[in-house]
Amino acid sequence: MFPIIKVGLLGLGTVGQGTYRILTGNKDNLTQKVGAEIKVTRILVRDLAKDRGMELDPALLTKDYRDILEDPEIEIVVELIGGLEPALNYVLSALERGKSVVTANKDLLALHGKELFEAAAAGKADLLFEGSVAGGIPIIRPLKQCLAANQIKEVMGIINGTTNYILTKMSYQGVDFTNALLEAQELGYAERDPTADIEGLDAARKIAILASIAFNTRVLINDVYVEGITRITARDINYARELNYAVKLLGMAKETPEGVEVRVHPALIPQSHPLAAVNGVFNAIFIRGDAAGDTMFYGQGAGALPTGSAVVADIMDAARHRLYKVPGIIKCTCYAQKPIKPIGEVECKYYLRLIVDDRPGVLASIAYAFGDKKVSLASVIQKLNLDQQAEIVLVTHRVKEQNFRAALNLISQLSAVKEVCNFIRVEGEET
Ligand code: NAP
Ligand code: HSE
Repeated sequence: MFPIIKVGLLGLGTVGQGTYRILTGNKDNLTQKVGAEIKVTRILVRDLAKDRGMELDPALLTKDYRDILEDPEIEIVVELIGGLEPALNYVLSALERGKSVVTANKDLLALHGKELFEAAAAGKADLLFEGSVAGGIPIIRPLKQCLAANQIKEVMGIINGTTNYILTKMSYQGVDFTNALLEAQELGYAERDPTADIEGLDAARKIAILASIAFNTRVLINDVYVEGITRITARDINYARELNYAVKLLGMAKETPEGVEVRVHPALIPQSHPLAAVNGVFNAIFIRGDAAGDTMFYGQGAGALPTGSAVVADIMDAARHRLYKVPGIIKCTCYAQKPIKPIGEVECKYYLRLIVDDRPGVLASIAYAFGDKKVSLASVIQKLNLDQQAEIVLVTHRVKEQNFRAALNLISQLSAVKEVCNFIRVEGEET
């Protein structure tokens, strides 16, 4: 006979159902691995009457969180409600009572990490959140444990499946942005309100969490420079391909002598970069450490079972810690306070597309503006002649963002420049 570790589940939506299915479907296997049976004894939901399309004892369901919080036999609380409140209050009160908490809630971690870890330390309880970043891909534990010996130099990832699906459709099937988004919604990849996905906020929360762990300093969502993919056009994607680049929404974090760079924005990356081959809803995270070198983690970044896989593994760890009375890593690993590097100070290459008058001297005036702001050009291609006008695509050498923007400001004021169509940062090349 195995001892029983009781779990209270908060939420029985996509991830809650995936988690419950894994816990019940793989029960024997999990029991042997942990040395105890993990048993969900209560599930908090909003709507008791909802048809959930699964076999479930209705007596497990409750609308009252106190049924879980005040049950002394429930040792692990699994928060899969999402959002800030009431999730924050539920998690803090569980930790205060010494219950271990497992959550997949990136919003909570990216905004309230400090107080959550303090509550975990005070309650001597686990706070585990593998499912909060990149769903089924192991990334929190690898960063905290397997790569702990390294000074992490860089974390760069495709950490939003919806936008990667949209960009893949636009790149390979010529689907426009609106239709690609509609498809992503129909397939259940995009959140009901896709703003957080397409504006880069979902990825920003995830990179804030990864950067905090990688660089041992608290990085909050507001520290992340964010741009989404809404201004990416099929035209830019095609030109990028001609230049041997793929367009991806990247979450990036780098440690530099001037501080930590943390940003989310679309970027051109070389077709030869491992992240360029990550397509559809798949996610991947590339990590550069001083000892391990480059490692990359690839897989499904969302969905009921992939995310449930990460959540259940956390529940198993929390259960083992309770069973054998060994502490987990309850101490927050953010021991340093490093400055955040402003976006103006960040250096990279830039792709720029302009519509200009097609007459002598125009390219020279653009080159002069770049030179004036100390921006050096790597390539200039005249793409199209349109009735006395030309479309030109330029790629710069590496330069500080503030210099590029100052040059762009001068260029946009030139009478020969009819439209600044787009600029996109270029990443992933050796510096
Ligand atoms: P979801 O499908 O919307 O499910 C939310 C669940 O929470 C529902 O069962 C809902 O109850 C319950 N709930 C919501 N507010 C509640 C409240 N005030 N009181 C009690 N119950 C409440 O959400 P999800 O997609 O599973 O996401 C859950 C968490 O996992 C979020 O933090 C999300 O960011 C994270 N996550 C999701 C994915 C993914 O692929 N979906 C991937 C990684 C991480 P009812 O069913 O009764 O309405
Ligand atoms: N909406 C997210 C994505 C999944 O598209 O990757 C949940 O984190």
